[in-house]
Amino acid sequence: MCGIVGYIGSKDCVDVLLDGLKELEYRGYDSAGIAVMNAEHISVCKVLGKISNLEKKVQTLDRSILKNAIGIGHTRWATHGKPSELNAHPHLGEFSYVVHNGIIENYKELKIDLEEKGHKFISQTDTEVIVHLFEEYYNLCNNTKEAFKKAISHLEGAFSVLLMSKVEPENIYFFKKGSPMVVAKGKVKNEVLFASTDAPLIGLAEDVVYLEDGVGGVARLGNIEFFSKDYTWSKLPTSKAYAQKDGYRFFMEKEIYEQSDVAGDCTLGRIHGEKIIFDELAKLDVDSIKEIKLCACGTSYHSALMASYLFERLAKIGVKVEIASEFRYKNPLLLKSTLFIAISQSGETADTLEALKMAKKAGLKTLVICNVDNSSMTRLADFCILTRAGIEKGVASTKAFCTQSLVLWMLSLYFAEIKKNISKEKLQDEISALREVPKTLLVKTKIHEKCRRLAKRYLHGHGFFFIGRDVFYPLALEGALKLKEISYLHAEGYPSGEMKHGPIALADKELFTIALMPKNMLYTKTKSNVEELSARDSTICAISPLEFDLADDFIKTDEKSHYMLEFFDILIVLQIFSLEVSIRLGNDVDMPRNLAKSVTVE
Ligand code: M6R
Repeated sequence: MCGIVGYIGSKDCVDVLLDGLKELEYRGYDSAGIAVMNAEHISVCKVLGKISNLEKKVQTLDRSILKNAIGIGHTRWATHGKPSELNAHPHLGEFSYVVHNGIIENYKELKIDLEEKGHKFISQTDTEVIVHLFEEYYNLCNNTKEAFKKAISHLEGAFSVLLMSKVEPENIYFFKKGSPMVVAKGKVKNEVLFASTDAPLIGLAEDVVYLEDGVGGVARLGNIEFFSKDYTWSKLPTSKAYAQKDGYRFFMEKEIYEQSDVAGDCTLGRIHGEKIIFDELAKLDVDSIKEIKLCACGTSYHSALMASYLFERLAKIGVKVEIASEFRYKNPLLLKSTLFIAISQSGETADTLEALKMAKKAGLKTLVICNVDNSSMTRLADFCILTRAGIEKGVASTKAFCTQSLVLWMLSLYFAEIKKNISKEKLQDEISALREVPKTLLVKTKIHEKCRRLAKRYLHGHGFFFIGRDVFYPLALEGALKLKEISYLHAEGYPSGEMKHGPIALADKELFTIALMPKNMLYTKTKSNVEELSARDSTICAISPLEFDLADDFIKTDEKSHYMLEFFDILIVLQIFSLEVSIRLGNDVDMPRNLAKSVTVE
């Protein structure tokens, strides 16, 4: 989490930093700040909350004294110390300034030691130790580079760091371990730029280094010195499609409406006649795969869970689904005949990334299904399938989940065919259904309007149960997560058949059941479970193509020939329902409280 930027060059440093931070705001928006310095002056500006607050506050800076200034900036998702101006980065020592993304795990010990040596701390953050540690070593050796290296060598955890100091006002020191950082040569002569990801650099730079773990250095105008040889220059695309709201109220709403188009992009070139083709996997020996481990967090975990049904049913390959944060510490049994698949929108989620590293180290073949090219995961895995959903700005993931599910469905068929576990006829049926997905994902005005009207009836009560069976169980989990994330209402996803094993005790009028009742997957079974809840007075909102007279509210979906088409149809309903509840509650749909788009801390 957190986004960091740095700039050395002839442009107005404050403007460059602000532009970069805006691109990274999805990584956290608890507070933001910049420090800008030249040989004579230093200005620090910090705010609680979003970059828009910082934009207002920098108006008070005297830019005339900041000619040829260099600078660092930060947008924060709080880990240590509550969101406040005091805890906002950059953190200051006596003469140095630091921004940091990640967690310093041993900060308490370091802090105690530094306090004993007379250092005064003013924030509750872990980051502040970096600047004091640097100054402690600088005071001992009088050498900035040595002091920086020494300070870094004492830090444990995951961190990327930018540091400036009044003793060398032309230099920015950098280091990366765990959390991502990109260094770039700007298009304007002698410029150097830094950012947590390459997004803010596109258009400004062409040559970049995606820093590897353990790599650091120091940059000044026209010069970047790396402390080791472990770096390679890569080319950035020259322009990017900026994500705009295009008349929608929120990015999330736009991204829901885009799903039909991105599903088309996602399948492009991957469905050939009656075959599924993944050129990306040409060198993967599918026959040698005896088991699949799917690993992810949050929404991406839900797509993994959904895929476990498809891989077993269609490809007949045994699957284990792992929550990345659990997988990392359970000493998992890792067999070389297992294909390890990491799923991630961002490609930067710390737990998934570490799980992927573990699998790779154990000699497993690794595949990442990811939306962001050149992210840490796509660079690490042996194989990569891009979901092609385009930039997803809304913190609540929508089109990324949709395209992940689509890729995983195609992948299960790809494996099924290679392993000769599917008949020609069955494969043809599946592919015909796949071709229908983009059309299914077109949002119908009637459905949106229905969700909007229903949203106002579901604002009270003591909670929601989203229930479904088979792949509609992970979809129920996803529906509940969407609602929680942006409406802050309590919601749980459950397999319909599990309700009677405990949760049904909660049933009463104030418990809302959102029942996922597709026609083509265990309809009668699910219906009985919903009847049991209705008999106990739960308020039922049924989503189904089939009329259900016990429902208090009914959202009628279209009749489809395949349960996966119903999956995508119901997905749209769940996303729009959450969106409308959140809007009615007056919440910030795209930047819900306490969350960040990319979770780069464990
Ligand atoms: O970028 P990733 O897919 O790895 O992110 C995983 C989760 O943090 C993410 O899906 C999160 O749950 C979203 N906010 C869900 O809407």
